[in-house]
Amino acid sequence: TSSSSEKPLIGVIDAGTRTVKFCVFRSQETKEIAEHTIDISTYTPKEGWSEQDPKEILDAVKSCMEKVVKCLGSESEKIRAIGITNQRETTILWDKTTGEPLYNALVWNDIRTDSTVDIILAKVPENNTNYYKPICGLPISPYFSAFKVKWLMHYVSDVKKAVTAKKCLFGTVDTWILWNLTGGVNGGLHLTDVTNASRTFLMNIELLNWDPVLLHTFKIPPEILPEIRSSSEIYGRIAKGLTLEDVPISGILGNQQASLLGQGCMREGEAKNTYRSGCFLLYNTGNSKVQSTHGLVTTVAYKFGDKPAVFALEGSVAVAGAAMKWLRDNMGFLNDVQRDTESLAQEVFNTGDVYFVPAFKGLYAPYWRKDARGIICGLTAFSTKQHIVRAALEAVCFQTRDILEAMNKDCGIPLSKLHVDGKMTQNSLLMQLQADISGIPVIRAQSQDITALGMAMAAGSAQGIDVWDLEAEDRQLVPSDTFLPTSTEDERDARYTKWKMAVQRSLGWSV
Ligand code: G3P
Repeated sequence: TSSSSEKPLIGVIDAGTRTVKFCVFRSQETKEIAEHTIDISTYTPKEGWSEQDPKEILDAVKSCMEKVVKCLGSESEKIRAIGITNQRETTILWDKTTGEPLYNALVWNDIRTDSTVDIILAKVPENNTNYYKPICGLPISPYFSAFKVKWLMHYVSDVKKAVTAKKCLFGTVDTWILWNLTGGVNGGLHLTDVTNASRTFLMNIELLNWDPVLLHTFKIPPEILPEIRSSSEIYGRIAKGLTLEDVPISGILGNQQASLLGQGCMREGEAKNTYRSGCFLLYNTGNSKVQSTHGLVTTVAYKFGDKPAVFALEGSVAVAGAAMKWLRDNMGFLNDVQRDTESLAQEVFNTGDVYFVPAFKGLYAPYWRKDARGIICGLTAFSTKQHIVRAALEAVCFQTRDILEAMNKDCGIPLSKLHVDGKMTQNSLLMQLQADISGIPVIRAQSQDITALGMAMAAGSAQGIDVWDLEAEDRQLVPSDTFLPTSTEDERDARYTKWKMAVQRSLGWSV
């Protein structure tokens, strides 16, 4: 066995919605040995719009890499592989001759494309939201990239001109970073991985290639699209003159797929839920694609090189932690999202029958209703901000239960436990509420590095570097603690029925 200092290292670029991070893992260890994180600004020029500056994202990636390399000193020379994991669906168009973005990135939760959705819906029989699901696994929703590309091609004249001149390139955040780090205008690689491609609404989920029918539907020219590759293979090397020059980039994964790997959910029937600004529950369905009839999406979980792709069912919740931020910034109920939500909610024993449906961006899974809007109901003269904060936490748990119910119906075998991660899971009250509302044990990873860890596994594997033995039956994963349900089934179901009543009231508000 080699001593730690001889072991190779793996670098991970983790470009999430709120932060960009670069971190480094040592082979066969599950804890980051160095990291640097930078916050990313989000702009809301109009209600429902959500934009980021692609150059700010790229600069943050470069700065984080510089900082970490500096901190590691000569040790950084042992970095043998780099992976890129990213916020998914977020759409960037740029000019390949200048490298300049043609518009800000449209972030995944931007809902300006409501009208684009209506145009597409009008073309399909009976306005069926699920019409294209057999092709791409996804319902018609502003969430997915194709709607954002169509909006940009329609409304932004620089985009129109660049498309006509055949200078325009499309990418999700992984592709934008990869193209720039591998040379940009001087031969940057224009490719993405199957997991990110599976979130665009343009990839055929059976064949794993761009689908001609969908391209035609959105009038998207194929030449703007990146090549689709596996999640774990050597795509190319970091360009000359950049930090970590010549190191191979050998893995790309959407961040929710990366955390599925990081949680060790590599067998059929294993599932994880990540709690951040949104919530994303992924259930590994192995090599088979399960077409949901209960509002979930079929997505690629990962694909290692030439091995067959592994698929997942996903339930996405648009607003989870974002509701706590709203309570802080818009309502002034608290100062510190992480600390105060737990302490305020603990000051009361229950929500006093208050329910809060934070449908700020419509509702995603399993409802897929862009016309839903937020609602707080059940208020009385006794209701306090503590009740509302607690109701906001419960809303995260109820939305997760909505998804669990759908998963159980689609898969036939109810999930017996739920692995969880993400910053919000540090809130132990939230974890207990989740166990009580869903009626199954909640297993919390005691590490904040799960997403990056999953990415390190895929990027390392392409280079023959193990983060741990992926096949081992008894693999010991990151340390965790467990929250067991303390509620009775009757209590759970009675409260869940009320939640469903609240959801009904939120539907159809925005017409
Ligand atoms: O689908 C959007 C998702 O990838 C965003 O994840 O953790 O960056 O909010 P996060």
